[in-house]
Amino acid sequence: MTTPTIELKPSASPLAAAEREAILANPGFGRHFTDHMVTIKWTEGRGWHDGELVPYAPLSLDPATMVLHYAQEIFEGLKAYRQPDGTVASFRPEKNARRFQSSARRLGMPELPVETFIEACDALVAQDADWVPAHGGEESLYLRPFMFATEVGLGVKPASEYLFIVIASPAGAYFPGGVKPVSIWVSEDHVRAVPGGMGDAKTGGNYAASLLAQAEAAAEGCAQVCYLDAVERKWVEELGGMNLYFVYGDKIVTPSLTGSILEGVTRDSLLQVARDLGYEAEEGRVSVDQWQRDSENGTLTEVFACGTAAVITPVGLVKRTGAQWRQGDGEPGEVTMKLRQALLDIQRGTAADQHGWMHKL
Ligand code: COI
Repeated sequence: MTTPTIELKPSASPLAAAEREAILANPGFGRHFTDHMVTIKWTEGRGWHDGELVPYAPLSLDPATMVLHYAQEIFEGLKAYRQPDGTVASFRPEKNARRFQSSARRLGMPELPVETFIEACDALVAQDADWVPAHGGEESLYLRPFMFATEVGLGVKPASEYLFIVIASPAGAYFPGGVKPVSIWVSEDHVRAVPGGMGDAKTGGNYAASLLAQAEAAAEGCAQVCYLDAVERKWVEELGGMNLYFVYGDKIVTPSLTGSILEGVTRDSLLQVARDLGYEAEEGRVSVDQWQRDSENGTLTEVFACGTAAVITPVGLVKRTGAQWRQGDGEPGEVTMKLRQALLDIQRGTAADQHGWMHKL
C-alpha cells in the first residue's frame, strides 16, 4: 500500500480573524467549517495518491457517482483540544483510524493506512490551528474524516475509485441544552441494525436508518431514540448516534459489543476512566424491562449517553410505549459528572495522560 505525502496548497483568502473569532465564541455543532480540507484519492491498481491540503470548497460530482446511489460511504469523528500551554492535541486518533479500516472492510472499500489517516488529520489541524477553540471551555475542534465511492456508473459493485476527505468544524455542545439531561424515546418498532449487518461500521446508512425513529422520538418530545436488539426486541443496544451507560451505584455497565453496536471510542475510554476512578466497569446485557424496573426501584441510579460529539450527556427522562420514568432526580448524576470531568481533564491536558491517549501535534 502506498502512503502519499500531503501536498500543501493553502487558501489565499482564509476567513478574516474577526469573523473566525465570532464563530468560535458560539460554534454550536457542525455548523461552521475551517478554511481547509485534506483530500486523498484511491484508484484500483494505483492505490492511494494525490494527497492534498486545499481550501475548503464544494465538490463537483457526476449525478451517476456510485455513492449517491448505493451509499458506499464511511466516516469518523474525533476531536482536537487546545492544551494549557497553547499547543493542540487530538484524542486517540489511532483508535479512529483502526475503526475506519474496519468500517472500510465491512463496506468493501480500500483501507487507508493508519499513519496516513493520522497524517491527514494532523495536516489539517496544523494548517487551521487558529480554529482550535481556547483552552478550558467546552469547545474543541471536531474532525470529520470520511470516504466515499467516486466511480461513475450504476452497476452495483465495490467501486474502483474513492475519495478520502478530512474536514474540521469548531464544536460546542452537541445538544442545544449543553450538559442538561436529555430525554430518550425507546423505539420498539424500528431497529437500527441486525446481526450480520453493518451496525458496527461507522457508515452513513446506519444514521439514515435511524432518522425515522429519531423523528418519532422528537414527536414524543424526546431528544434521542434508543434502539433495542433486532432479534428479541428487548436488549438495549445504543442511541441514534451514541452509546449508552447504566450506573448502578459504584458500578457502570454498557451494552456488550454484539456486532450490531458501534464500538465507540468514548465508550471504550470510559470503561478505563471509570476503573481508574475506582468504579467497577463492565460490558453486559440490559433489557428495557430491567431498565424500567431498576429505575423505578431506585437501584439504577443514573444513565448517560456518550460519544465523541456528545462527550457524556446525562439522561433525565425515558419514554417507551405505555410508560415513562424519570432517571434519577432529573439533574446530572454524580457519577456521570465525575466521569465526564475526568475524561475532559485528560483531553484538555489538565490531568495526566496515563494511557497515552493524547496525540500531540
Ligand atoms: C460522533 O459522536 O462523533 C458521531 O459521529 C455521532 C454523530 C451523531 C455526530
